[in-house]
Amino acid sequence: MVAGDLAPKTIVIFGITGTQGSSVARSFVSQSGWTMHGVTRKPSSPAAVQWEMPGIEIAYGDLDDAESLCKALRGANIVFGVTDFWQHLKDPKALIDAVAATLPDLERFIISTLSSARDASEGAIDFNLHFDSKAEMLKHLKKRYPELWAKTSLLTLGCYAGNWKLYKDGAGRPGKIDDGVYKIYLPRDGDTPLPFVEPNADTDPFVKALLNLLSGTNLVEAGSPISWAEWCNIWGRVNDVKCTFERQDLFEEHSYCGVDGKNVVYPWDLSFKVKYTTMEEYIQSQDWDSVLCPEGGIVEAP
Ligand SMILES: NC(=O)c1ccc[n+]([C@@H]2O[C@H](COP(=O)([O-])OP(=O)(O)OC[C@H]3O[C@@H](n4cnc5c(N)ncnc54)[C@H](OP(=O)(O)O)[C@@H]3O)[C@@H](O)[C@H]2O)c1
Repeated sequence: MVAGDLAPKTIVIFGITGTQGSSVARSFVSQSGWTMHGVTRKPSSPAAVQWEMPGIEIAYGDLDDAESLCKALRGANIVFGVTDFWQHLKDPKALIDAVAATLPDLERFIISTLSSARDASEGAIDFNLHFDSKAEMLKHLKKRYPELWAKTSLLTLGCYAGNWKLYKDGAGRPGKIDDGVYKIYLPRDGDTPLPFVEPNADTDPFVKALLNLLSGTNLVEAGSPISWAEWCNIWGRVNDVKCTFERQDLFEEHSYCGVDGKNVVYPWDLSFKVKYTTMEEYIQSQDWDSVLCPEGGIVEAP
């Protein structure tokens, strides 16, 4: 176990200005015995400056600039790594090469990832860049750096619960179709359970859990797995309205949100308790006024 050791350790957190990294940083900041390097491309941005406090060094690092990564990673005992979907579709390997250079002082590398859509669907999905880029990164790590692989734990993120904020009314977030009646439509089936996650609150406890598990563990960061049909039921119940799900094949199903069931563990399978947010808790915690009373009124579903 690493987290309980008395000697001071350095944790390097990529994406400290983002959702997952800031969740991890929030808990280590209050824990004695740790120093932290928070990595960002923009050390003077408000999201980075808020972390300027004793025990934390905001380090310039760009995943496309190998030299900067080596500096940010100096002295690392633990690394939390996350790549950015938009920036790292083409070459997500720079992070791996830089972390490999920190051996032998490194004790644990925790990398935020997604299952290979191709492998998990047994070839049925042959292209999903969102997932494929991360799978490529892991293949590179395993093949090129067996020593680093032996110190690596995987954190497989489920579908962000907050994605409804990015969608438009109807498509991915409830759209009002009549008084007290709402509908969600998506190009996927409504009955398959999905591993939804609240990454703001839950990334930290899942990282802590991985530090207490053997390296090599692939832990799924998820609250209760639920289908879109169940999501609609919960959302309707919480808001005292009716909500239904409809599959609409507007275009080929674009996003795979499944998890490779063969090589992962879920929090509820562990011998100790990991705090996670259920969808019911998440839905209850949100302000849904913008959805319940949309500015445009009734949504015209296609
Ligand atoms: N949305 C979903 O449903 C979902 C589900 C599972 C997994 N994911 C994955 O989650 C990941 C994003 O994580 P997040 O939500 O924590 O991120 P986020 O909130 O979108 O923030 C992006 C972070 O990445 C950093 N970053 C971007 N480009 C960088 C670069 N070139 N070098 C160094 N740092 C860089 C940013 O730091 P600066 O701007 O400060 O440099 C920022 O901290 C994506 O890879 C996505 O695939 C998303």
